Amino acid sequence: MKTGVDHIIHGGDYNPDQWLKYPEIIDDDVRLMKKARINSATVGIFSWSVLEPEEGVYEFGWLDEVFDKLYENGIDVILATPSGARPAWMAQKYPEVLRVEESGIRNEFGVRHNHCPTSPVYREKVREIDRRLAERYGSHPALKMWHISNEYSGECHCELCQAAFREWLKERYHNDLEELNDSWWNGFWSHRITDWEQISSPKYRGEDHVTALKLCWDRFVTDSHISFYENEIAPIRELTPGIPITTNFMRFYDRIDYQKFSKKVDVVSWDNYPCYDGTDTLKKAAETAFSHDMFRSMKGGKPFLMMESTPSVVNHRPVNRIPAPGTQTLTAVQAIAHGSDSVQYFQWRKSRGGHEKLHGAVVDHSGRDDTRVFREVSATGELLEKLKDVAGARSRGRVAIVCDFENSRAVSHFCGYNNVRRDYLDECVKWYRPFWLSGVCADVIAMDDDFTQYDAVIAPFLYMLKNGTEERIEQYVRNGGVFVATYLFAVTDEDDLCRLGGLPAGKLKDVFGVIAEETDALPEGINEIAAFDGKEYKAEHVCDVIRSTGAAVLGEYGSGFYAGQPSVTVNSYGKGKAYYVAFRNDGELAVDFCRRLIKTHGIKKDAGIAAPDGVVFRKRGDFVFVMNFGDGDAAVTLDREYQNVSDRTTVRGDISVKANGFVCLKTL
Ligand code: GAL
Repeated sequence: MKTGVDHIIHGGDYNPDQWLKYPEIIDDDVRLMKKARINSATVGIFSWSVLEPEEGVYEFGWLDEVFDKLYENGIDVILATPSGARPAWMAQKYPEVLRVEESGIRNEFGVRHNHCPTSPVYREKVREIDRRLAERYGSHPALKMWHISNEYSGECHCELCQAAFREWLKERYHNDLEELNDSWWNGFWSHRITDWEQISSPKYRGEDHVTALKLCWDRFVTDSHISFYENEIAPIRELTPGIPITTNFMRFYDRIDYQKFSKKVDVVSWDNYPCYDGTDTLKKAAETAFSHDMFRSMKGGKPFLMMESTPSVVNHRPVNRIPAPGTQTLTAVQAIAHGSDSVQYFQWRKSRGGHEKLHGAVVDHSGRDDTRVFREVSATGELLEKLKDVAGARSRGRVAIVCDFENSRAVSHFCGYNNVRRDYLDECVKWYRPFWLSGVCADVIAMDDDFTQYDAVIAPFLYMLKNGTEERIEQYVRNGGVFVATYLFAVTDEDDLCRLGGLPAGKLKDVFGVIAEETDALPEGINEIAAFDGKEYKAEHVCDVIRSTGAAVLGEYGSGFYAGQPSVTVNSYGKGKAYYVAFRNDGELAVDFCRRLIKTHGIKKDAGIAAPDGVVFRKRGDFVFVMNFGDGDAAVTLDREYQNVSDRTTVRGDISVKANGFVCLKTL
């Protein structure tokens, strides 16, 4: 399946259906798009009420015109299916299409993303409109990609979903209630189930203490979105087999297992809205880099798309500060550096009314092309044209951070230790950040992804192990891999049953050469001291109390009743090394530890560029991107001669990178 992209896509959500009574505005859109060097428009995302104003009555004339106009002006179309919001007539006639909340009450018509993914009526309606779109536009030369629905999310608790969930459980547990009871440890509190009908979705007024049920529900919710998506794409695949399909994901939204869902799309895409309000810029840039690398890793390093980003400001935060000028282009460059083949915006033109009328857009209500935002977007477009050759380039990490969606859910469900601070995502970013700062390309993977291609695998807070993971970690280390685990490692299995026989579970005791006997939780503001490599660090929130059964001790706790017991260990196992970091650190240890890891294990950086804190660099294809997320202008020392892509000059030695700025370099 081709991605259809041999250049960088510069575009975004375009909603001409909102402007049908203002033809002069639609005409002006094309002129402005060309001026801003927009080469793609994503149309139709929420257009259902215009496409099918009455049941069975379809109106495509306006969309025909939009397609033709864009095509004649060299602008590609990414066509969306409209299932993210439905017309009022449909909700009125078929209430079952609407979602039922955990309370058991069915929602009324309104907002968006408010559908039941199981409803046969809704599925049929969606299939029909998708089929008609594919029939009508499948061979239009402007059509380059399908954008299915919009940000699938949420869950439905209606009777149809309950019945589907029970069927899902029957399949998982081989139609055997005894197996389910055992797997869920239902003897506890007399919860044994004797009839499948006794089971329903977890809810606060019912069962929400059985973590295995909650994990199963999470998995079912993912599967129900996937199955809804598969229903959507069936006619599209049949009629337009050569046009790639994507659906836009949202950052680390763990209510849907994107690591699983991504296997079903041709191109991964996601919507990027970092909150650059002048505080913690470096931290937010690291989180964004992490997300880019996570989405890139889902397809083994293949390019992804940044399907949405704001060209200026959002409207959904308590206070919506305008990011500093330059932030939009820096955000665009960061996306490209990490593997995106697109820079796309929400949205092209600011809506005149509706919930998002004050959300930033490329074209403001003023309709002018001399605004700061318009100028910045145009400059981004110009730069992206110069970066054309990077399109399609894949990158692979030297190391991997395991940030697993199912583990994230398991971590959020259990009761014990520190019930206030779970922070799974933050923990993963904490261990990703040192590599990002050092210019080492890191992948962000699921626990069932292949470890063997990495110099090192870091698995923070990997509490639940899916079947086979224990064996794969053992094999990876035995064959020469470097594996880093932290506290609360390998505690439960796929059904969240605690592993018997001591931790870390099973064979991993030998691999790591430690036994984790107890876990202490520290209230906010109370810390223990933990050492590594002769330096003391702050331990916070969670500390495993471990002893070595063979591992070398790299540091010990310096306080608490476990003072003198190991805080960091490394074990030689087979040809590899297994590290155990027993405590949660505040980020300082992670930086020192990873720097040592890079040195000890000869992990290669993207380039030999020397940059101060706050400036990061990343290689992709023949390009190296230097980005300054620090506070001031920075001096950077290059390792060789490059071409500066912006002005095509040759640069070497020391260069200056402006605060909130970047330099795109091409290897000569
Ligand atoms: C996205 C969504 C868009 C728009 C945008 C505003 O999550 O997909 O439709 O609402 O947020 O920031």
